[in-house]
Amino acid sequence: IKDIKVKILTVEDLDVSKFYRYPDSHKGDYGKVGIVAGSKYYPGAAVLCSNAALQSGCGLCYLITPKEALYFQNFRRPEIIVLPLEGKEGVISFDGFVKFDEFFAKFDVLGFGCGLTKNEEVEKILIHILENFQIPIVIDADGLNSLSSSQKAKKLLKSYKSQKVLTPHYMEAARILNVDVKDIAKNPIDAATKIASEFKAICVLKGSRTIITDGDEVFINVLGNPGMAKGGSGDVLTGIILSMIAQGCSAFEAAKLAVYLHSLSADILLEKKTMQTILPSEIIDGLDNAIRRLI
Ligand code: APR
Ligand code: MG
Repeated sequence: IKDIKVKILTVEDLDVSKFYRYPDSHKGDYGKVGIVAGSKYYPGAAVLCSNAALQSGCGLCYLITPKEALYFQNFRRPEIIVLPLEGKEGVISFDGFVKFDEFFAKFDVLGFGCGLTKNEEVEKILIHILENFQIPIVIDADGLNSLSSSQKAKKLLKSYKSQKVLTPHYMEAARILNVDVKDIAKNPIDAATKIASEFKAICVLKGSRTIITDGDEVFINVLGNPGMAKGGSGDVLTGIILSMIAQGCSAFEAAKLAVYLHSLSADILLEKKTMQTILPSEIIDGLDNAIRRLI
């Protein structure tokens, strides 16, 4: 049995140095985030994830999404660069994706999964990325669901050479480990370290007490509130993690910082609002106050 260190996540565990912006810097110094997300059915997931990345300080944010998701334009920040892909029945398609291959390889970090829906095309794209790319990757939501249903993707992820972050909630973790969700709830630390060790990744196991681990060290987040239990909160977290990696944090640092900021922002919102009314998009706006408290 491995000796595992478990710790409550506090400000002292965070490296806030990446928030310093040099006077003579330019956007290239703060990194390029690429996000593969959204579908005709979940265009908002892509908007939340990319808005959150942008609002956490990265230099450039690209959103790769099927054309059919673009009717949702009005909630998107104009600073986000959109690459609309040829889709298939409202969902991202493999043929549309591979046309832009070389371009995607230039990102400093790639996000994959929010609102993509689960189907064969998504699974094929994930396998293609893992076989051909060599950039840090954050896999969430339908990216994780595709991973769970493909032995090939699992094998490729284990040997993927760049940094990896997996951000499952309990149900997604249960699918990855092929166990019942009750087993995850019984021992979430065990589940998170298992996922991290198996894939040599950072695992962010999301819940009311989110667990962040590299397989050896475990941090438990105690900030946040049940007002965050709303569709879209997870997409916001993924965007913040991506942004911090683009700005030069290691995957583990980025995950710790992002989880902390995300829930701190939601807690600050409660000073003026209620758990009923706070929304994931307001967690993005609230990052302003959260970052101010940290730096
Ligand atoms: N207390 C504190 N934090 C909470 C609480 C709570 N009671 N409930 C939820 N959160 C936080 C989690 O820690 C996590 O950061 O809110 C976020 C929820 O993330 P997800 O579970 O991924 O939920 P969601 O945003 O709805 O995901 C969007 O992707 O995973 C799929 O099926 C999911 O369709 C959904 C989509
Ligand atoms: Mg989610």
